[in-house]
Amino acid sequence: MNKKIEQYIEQHSSPEDPILENLFRETHIRFINPNMISGHLQGKFLEMLSSMIRPDNILEIGTFTGYSAICLSRGLKPGGKLITIELNDELADFAQSYFIRAGVENKIIQMTGMAHDIIPRLDQMFDLVFIDGDKREYVEYYKLIIDKVKPGGFIIADNVLWGEKVLDIETTDPQTRGIINFNEMVRKETAIEEVILPIRDGLMLIRKTAQR
Ligand SMILES: C[S@@+](CC[C@H](N)C(=O)[O-])C[C@H]1O[C@@H](n2cnc3c(N)ncnc32)[C@H](O)[C@@H]1O
Repeated sequence: MNKKIEQYIEQHSSPEDPILENLFRETHIRFINPNMISGHLQGKFLEMLSSMIRPDNILEIGTFTGYSAICLSRGLKPGGKLITIELNDELADFAQSYFIRAGVENKIIQMTGMAHDIIPRLDQMFDLVFIDGDKREYVEYYKLIIDKVKPGGFIIADNVLWGEKVLDIETTDPQTRGIINFNEMVRKETAIEEVILPIRDGLMLIRKTAQR
């Protein structure tokens, strides 16, 4: 997107709060691949979506340093909970310190391990699931969670345009293939409806229309 329009959008969206601003900055100083973080505009958008849905239960796959978890947790109903799964156990203490600073530590349950091991053990239904883990595993995540999404509930999947590489349908790059396969699978699924928004790297919103 043209830089001037990007600046205009930033200037005409609510400012990033200081805690998220610090989290963004510290993530860039301390961690590798900091560009994985959601950031200001996407974070605000996730917060808005969550506030519209007012979920009781949210599941997130891919905590990283906790930016999106904080944003999504702000839309929870009073007493609601967000479970966030992260395989890298070196991130948990750092993310927790920001959950405390943001005052959302009582709403967020961190689980450390592989999503495929943890999700089958979760004995509850979700109003909202945010998929933001390994791009090669999106199809698998979808299959693991779809029966745990309430009818009328939502799935949000990040990076579904993958830097526009999804247009290269012959690609053998495993991450691009993972995203292409996910997008194709969603297109063919029944009992859901979906739309891709060109925000940041592409956000897919999926609504489950009926129990399968
Ligand atoms: C793109 S980052 C998440 C960014 C975060 N949601 C945010 O917006 O700030 C993806 C994270 O998913 C984690 N991850 C990848 N595969 C996973 C898996 N199978 N189970 C759990 N976490 C996984 C990675 O370690 C990484 O920290």
